[in-house]
Amino acid sequence: MKSAAELAAEQAAYWNGPGGQGWLAAYQRIQRAIGEIGEIGLSAAAAQTGEHAIDIGCGTGDTTAALARAVGLTGHVLGVDISEPLIAAARTHRLDNASFVVGDAATHTFQSAHYDLVFSRFGVMFFADPVAAFRNIRRALKPQGRLVFIAWRTPQENPWGTVPMRAAQPFLPPQPRPGPEDPGQFAFGDRARVERILGDAGFRALRFEPIDRQIWMGDSVAEVVAGADRFGPLARAFAGAEPAAIEKARQAIADVLAPHQGADGVRLPGACWLVRANAS
Ligand SMILES: C[S@@+](CC[C@H](N)C(=O)[O-])C[C@H]1O[C@@H](n2cnc3c(N)ncnc32)[C@H](O)[C@@H]1O
Repeated sequence: MKSAAELAAEQAAYWNGPGGQGWLAAYQRIQRAIGEIGEIGLSAAAAQTGEHAIDIGCGTGDTTAALARAVGLTGHVLGVDISEPLIAAARTHRLDNASFVVGDAATHTFQSAHYDLVFSRFGVMFFADPVAAFRNIRRALKPQGRLVFIAWRTPQENPWGTVPMRAAQPFLPPQPRPGPEDPGQFAFGDRARVERILGDAGFRALRFEPIDRQIWMGDSVAEVVAGADRFGPLARAFAGAEPAAIEKARQAIADVLAPHQGADGVRLPGACWLVRANAS
């Protein structure tokens, strides 16, 4: 079993390396896929004029920019992300009332009891020691502050993330299988675990709302297949495979996705938690 320090180092290397580069390269498509879910999170966060907010794992900063619009010039938003290339992209927003910092949200020294809101769109599932991370985040909130984030539910409830991989797997080199509690995109699928993490970190009044949507994966199967090596677990699996094996894997993905092609593109079910909690 890997130590928390090893897991944290792996995440930092991934998001500063292939993960960050892949996210950037695929970002317009990703935004099309998750934009609506992000809007649900932002509307639940209900940032108000003059508030101070943090956007955890802010990536390219689109949600930070949305929060900055909501808090106005009397408020301020801090976007924090462990990935240098993603923060470099976020800084191009050039916002007067937001700043961006490269840092590990689990250990970053935030101004204590200063923030009204901590928000995240899919940026809180990558902590090696989530209780310690959320304790650190909670310290940044005022006693009446609130936490609002979006996280994927279980892999079983997210065929958009599992169906292509399962089809391709027989043709690709075996991949390390993350443990159910290892950091990763589906690490917060188990509601009971997230309740434990947030409760142990001191959060109160936890509220979980399931959000179910058909996730857009591309306009056509060919487009999804062509982009399969750009980001995520498939990109990692493709990286170590022979060209002939990759061809077979691409064909298998095309076959499994064909029934999901509709007039509005290729879509598969996706499932998230909208999580809300109070700092005290
Ligand atoms: C799935 S992406 C989401 C990005 C962004 N929130 C969005 O929705 O576009 C996850 C983000 O979390 C960041 N991240 C991962 N671990 C982190 C940590 N310990 N501290 C801060 N950011 C982290 C990654 O670099 C990445 O930008």
